[in-house]
Amino acid sequence: MAEQDEVKRRAARAALAHLPEEGVLGLGTGSTACHFVDAVGELVRAGRKYAGVPTSERSRQQALSLGIPLLSDEGPWEIDVCVDGADEVSADLDLIKGGGAAHTREKIVNYASRLNIIVVDSSKLSTRLGEKWPIPIEVLAYGHKATERLLAAYGRPVLRMTGGQPTKTDAGNVIYDLHVEPIKDAGGLAGLLALVPGVVGTGLFVGRADIVLVAGQDGIRTLERPRGAR
Ligand code: A5P
Repeated sequence: MAEQDEVKRRAARAALAHLPEEGVLGLGTGSTACHFVDAVGELVRAGRKYAGVPTSERSRQQALSLGIPLLSDEGPWEIDVCVDGADEVSADLDLIKGGGAAHTREKIVNYASRLNIIVVDSSKLSTRLGEKWPIPIEVLAYGHKATERLLAAYGRPVLRMTGGQPTKTDAGNVIYDLHVEPIKDAGGLAGLLALVPGVVGTGLFVGRADIVLVAGQDGIRTLERPRGAR
């Protein structure tokens, strides 16, 4: 476990080479991105002028504890680089995110960023999304069982639970993990799921990773979306 965490730390620190000397950074959520936030804290203490936009209350608390200045939640922001983790990365560099229930804020920050860097260990790579991970879907608490019925047209939705209660997002919504077969058309499915009443946001990030830094036992690999596709 400690070894796995060290691999995640290496992936996160590899992102530092892509940061500007100063500017606005999107601060991802999760056990990999938290190493990036730690590193930004070190840079701020060393005098770098960064401001952060956190993607969850967890990353907000971490950033505050490290003295990283934060921009207000309202936006709009001009984010230079966002660094975040992922649960699954396909051969096309599409992503499933939301294992930590933060994907809706993560997606808002991702879309506000000029450069999106995803940091993962090699266990997250797959050929097609859905091979390894269900799709986390943030659903409005009101009528969530009605939304569940509609989601069942696309897979097997499972209400995520924490301590015997439905898991709540930072916005007070619930999460359904939608178990699907390996996905042929992630963009098409993302569009259909977004139309389901009650769906607040899905963990499908299609075409939203510019650079994926993959840490393994043999070092760091850099996977890049072709420039024209950005
Ligand atoms: C948070 O909701 C997620 O999108 C995370 O970025 C994702 O689950 C990756 O987390 P780990 O780095 O902890 O695997």
